[in-house]
Amino acid sequence: MRSLVVYFSRTGENSVNGRIEVIEKGYTEIIAEKIQKALECDIFKLEPVEPYPFSYEECVERARKEVTCDYLNSDFSIDEYDVVFIGFPNWYRSYPRIVAKFLKDHTWVGKTVIPFCTNEEGALGIGELELRSSVKGAIIKKGFAERGYNANSCDERLEKWLKEVL
Ligand SMILES: Cc1cc2nc3c(=O)[nH]c(=O)nc-3n(C[C@H](O)[C@H](O)[C@H](O)COP(=O)(O)O)c2cc1C
Repeated sequence: MRSLVVYFSRTGENSVNGRIEVIEKGYTEIIAEKIQKALECDIFKLEPVEPYPFSYEECVERARKEVTCDYLNSDFSIDEYDVVFIGFPNWYRSYPRIVAKFLKDHTWVGKTVIPFCTNEEGALGIGELELRSSVKGAIIKKGFAERGYNANSCDERLEKWLKEVL
C-alpha cells in the first residue's frame, strides 16, 4: 500500500481563539508533516497560483467569494498511490476551494481517502459530506479533526486515529 499526504495550509494572519495572530507555520501543515513522518510516505502541498492574502480579513473576503482555485504543479499524479490523506483547514464549514479543485482533477476509483482537518471550533464541518460526493468510487475513512492551536500537542490522538484508519 503506497500512501500520500496531500494538504493545503495557510500562513499569515489568522484568527486564533478570536484574536488575530501571525502564524508562521500553518496548523494543517504541522499535522500533515506528522502523518508523513509516521508513515514515511510522500507529501504534496497545494500551493495556490495566486497566493492567499497575508491579511486575515482579506483572506476571508477572498475565500467567501471563491468558486475555484488553481494550484501549482497541477500535473502531479496520484496514480501510484492507494491511500490518499487529504488535509485542510475548515473554511466556511468545508474545505478551501483549492482542495475542491484538486479532488475534481483526479480519478478516485479504487483509492482509499482519509481526510484530516484543523479548525477554530467546527471540526470537519460538512467537509466529509462534500468529500463523499467528490471522490466517487473511493473508500472514505473516518476523518481526524483538531483545533488549530492544538496541532502541536495532539500526537496521542493522532497516533490512535492513524491506527484506526490504516
Ligand atoms: C477563510 C477562513 C474561513 C474559516 N472558516 C472556519 C469555519 O467555518 N469553521 C472553523 O471552525 N474555523 C474556520 N476557520 C479557521 C481555520 O479553520 C483554522 O484557523 C485552521 O486551523 C487554519 O489552518 P491552517 O493554519 O492550516 O491554514 C476559517 C479560517 C479562514 C482563514
